[in-house]
Amino acid sequence: MAETFNIPQGSKADMYADLIEQAKSVVSTESDVIANMGNVAAMLHFTFGFWWTGFYRVIDGELVLGPFQGPLACTRIGKGRGVCGTSWKEAHTIVVPDVDQFPGHIACSSESKSEIVVPIIINGDVKAVLDIDSAQLATFDEVDKTWLEKLVKELADKLV
Ligand code: SME
Repeated sequence: MAETFNIPQGSKADMYADLIEQAKSVVSTESDVIANMGNVAAMLHFTFGFWWTGFYRVIDGELVLGPFQGPLACTRIGKGRGVCGTSWKEAHTIVVPDVDQFPGHIACSSESKSEIVVPIIINGDVKAVLDIDSAQLATFDEVDKTWLEKLVKELADKLV
């Protein structure tokens, strides 16, 4: 694998574009999805300074905590529960500007103020979700949604 990661600079879109190229390089020589999820979570987390960045994997009808960066998190989430379970059930990205306004939000940490969850879909099935929490309100917008969807789409076969 590439041994270095250069923290991307520039506009948010520029940073995502650079990060995706570096992430593709990092995962290109590794077939283990847990290893790849770990590195992708780390790259996102330390590029943008998020509060919590990680993956939940669909295993036996539940979302199960996968590789992440950040504080302790809940380990299992049912389909349709919380932001993650809703993204899984509806198979689309959910942007939450204020977690207190999202009915059923699962508060793993009281520090989390806003959140985005992006499903990883293979052949129409959600196999995992990428979950990112911010300690500030309204951190995530259409730019994050567009680029994070591009990231999981381009890396999907190395993440699940
Ligand atoms: N807030 C999420 C739970 C996962 S933690 O944020 C890491 C939710 O409502 O699904």
